[in-house]
Amino acid sequence: MKSEIIFNERGHRWVVLGRDPQKPEQIIDTNEHFIIHDDQALLMDPGGTEIFPQVLSEITRYVKIENITTIVASHQDPDIVSSLALWLDLCPHVKVYCPKLWVGFIAHFGMGTKMELIPIPDNGLSIPLGTTKASIYAVPAHYCHSSGNFSFFDPISNFLFSGDIGAALLPADESNLFIQNFQSHIQYMEGFHQRWMPSQAALRAWTRRVRMIQPDLICPQHGSIFKQNQIDEFLGWLEKLEVGLWKGDDQEQELSMETWMQWKHI
Ligand SMILES: [Fe+2]
Ligand SMILES: [Fe+2]
Repeated sequence: MKSEIIFNERGHRWVVLGRDPQKPEQIIDTNEHFIIHDDQALLMDPGGTEIFPQVLSEITRYVKIENITTIVASHQDPDIVSSLALWLDLCPHVKVYCPKLWVGFIAHFGMGTKMELIPIPDNGLSIPLGTTKASIYAVPAHYCHSSGNFSFFDPISNFLFSGDIGAALLPADESNLFIQNFQSHIQYMEGFHQRWMPSQAALRAWTRRVRMIQPDLICPQHGSIFKQNQIDEFLGWLEKLEVGLWKGDDQEQELSMETWMQWKHI
């Protein structure tokens, strides 16, 4: 698993992990982002159980385990935070923030480990980075794609972690951390957004928030990072994209009478 510091100023670092060539083929490639401020670390969407050992060994190159103070989860999917029990075993003091809607569901990832999940209300929350003076902000991103969903904005780096928004399913040999050419990157994002994003209105509400925030980077949980003018291109593309559409053959969704009869053993 590769890692890279993409912001490093005033005792504040943003580190990205990703592009793990050793990961099992059937596992979707994820990026894990974390912020270190005054030696305390906050993990954003720390990932699934399967990749926990690689994520842990890479993170501990930058920060001591006992200094991981905060975990935030953008939504409830297993690739986001199914590793939660493993993190809690190592860092029982860690504060875990997740969407209010998903508290009772994400608790299933605890596997009996004692934990306190702090709900992020629907309209967002300022989340302190441990005992430091730094905070990040949970920006509402509901229905993009999950019904209770947040992006996370760090005002010191001016970077936005966007979760599954802007996600791209890249070919295995594509190793660039940053998007090289937005137009040729669309092919890797389009199908994902059309199928996984249920609401054009929700995406447009999110782009309005992001245009107000004006981040310098947008960092998705899958795929490559958007910078500078690519952000404007990306937001414009999202605003026009038709999503929540079934693009398959309607006939294929219908069960034939023959299939029904087989299923019902008639
Ligand atoms: Fe997801
Ligand atoms: Fe995801």
